[in-house]
Amino acid sequence: NWKMGNFVDLEIARIRELVGPKALVIGGVSGGVDSTVGATLMRQAIGDRFIAIGVNNGCMRLNEFEEVKKNLRDHLGINLTVVEAGELFLSRLAGVSDPEKKRKIIGSTFIDVFEKEAIRLEKEAENTPNSGRVEWFLQGTLYPDVIESLSWRGPSSTIKTHHNTGGLPEVRKIDAPMVYFPVTYQHAANDEGPNNTAQKDEVREIGRQLGIHESLVNRHPFPGPGIAVRILGDVTPERVEIARKADNIFINMIKEAGLYDQISQAYAGLDTSRSVGVFGDTRVWGYIIILRAVRTKDFMSAECFNFDNSFLQDVARAICNQVDGVARVVYDLTSKPPGTIELE
Ligand code: XMP
Repeated sequence: NWKMGNFVDLEIARIRELVGPKALVIGGVSGGVDSTVGATLMRQAIGDRFIAIGVNNGCMRLNEFEEVKKNLRDHLGINLTVVEAGELFLSRLAGVSDPEKKRKIIGSTFIDVFEKEAIRLEKEAENTPNSGRVEWFLQGTLYPDVIESLSWRGPSSTIKTHHNTGGLPEVRKIDAPMVYFPVTYQHAANDEGPNNTAQKDEVREIGRQLGIHESLVNRHPFPGPGIAVRILGDVTPERVEIARKADNIFINMIKEAGLYDQISQAYAGLDTSRSVGVFGDTRVWGYIIILRAVRTKDFMSAECFNFDNSFLQDVARAICNQVDGVARVVYDLTSKPPGTIELE
């Protein structure tokens, strides 16, 4: 029951009617295709009354935050506020190794940041033509995120809490009549839940219709909690830095080999167990990097990508040589199910 057709025009009309002439809308943007599409639709519908909030949670990929700023602000003309919250997130995550606890901490920290920004933005808008209240919160969510999260299935059958749906009830905590607003991906007229939520390929198609650059539209998905759910165990700034560097090497090599568009999602994660290695004539005790690359249509099930062994060996060598603190590199062969795409 999902039709592309004139979706963009209908959605813009729907947003305008829903939001009205004065209210402000805020929304988190990660630089990924889902939130960028949502933000672009909002900008086309209500202009600067939509304020995108880019939160640096300290767990983003290398240079990612800079790219978010460039794409959203400069290329798409979106009214963007950035919040540097890396230290806040990492301090709250310190010493926590349980995957669900990590996700919940990240979800609630995002909400704390949004709440603070909503209050600040309302104050700032006082006595300006945009003097409305922050009444809506934009949330772009995909089908797999929704179906796998607590809100739809109940606690007993939770696969894992996605920070953006698991944190849902708390969104209403934000001052003013804050409402969860599944903007782009659910048709307002028909509130049937997940059946009405778009899949990734549909969101990409909307992105193209909105004129978003192909390189952004085709980006591999990146989870809101970021590198934190790609580190097995507790997250430290050092571990994030190692995973980030390894990931950057892996993704660049995938791009150089012309494989990026054949893979649905790839990354390098980090196992916090350590392994012994020899570098030159020195013995090292370093982390294990886990390479993951999958092919999938819907992100509900996935197969691991078949690289040439020689490619993987080159990646392993490059990571061991270039990233201090790594002693070993492995490739994850698990399909989904049983393995999820992220490590946690
Ligand atoms: P899993 O690991 O559940 O991932 O097989 C399925 C897809 O969802 C992405 N993912 C998330 N996206 N917030 C997000 O926005 C999250 O908390 C989250 N967890 C997983 C994952 O990257 C993959 O594309």
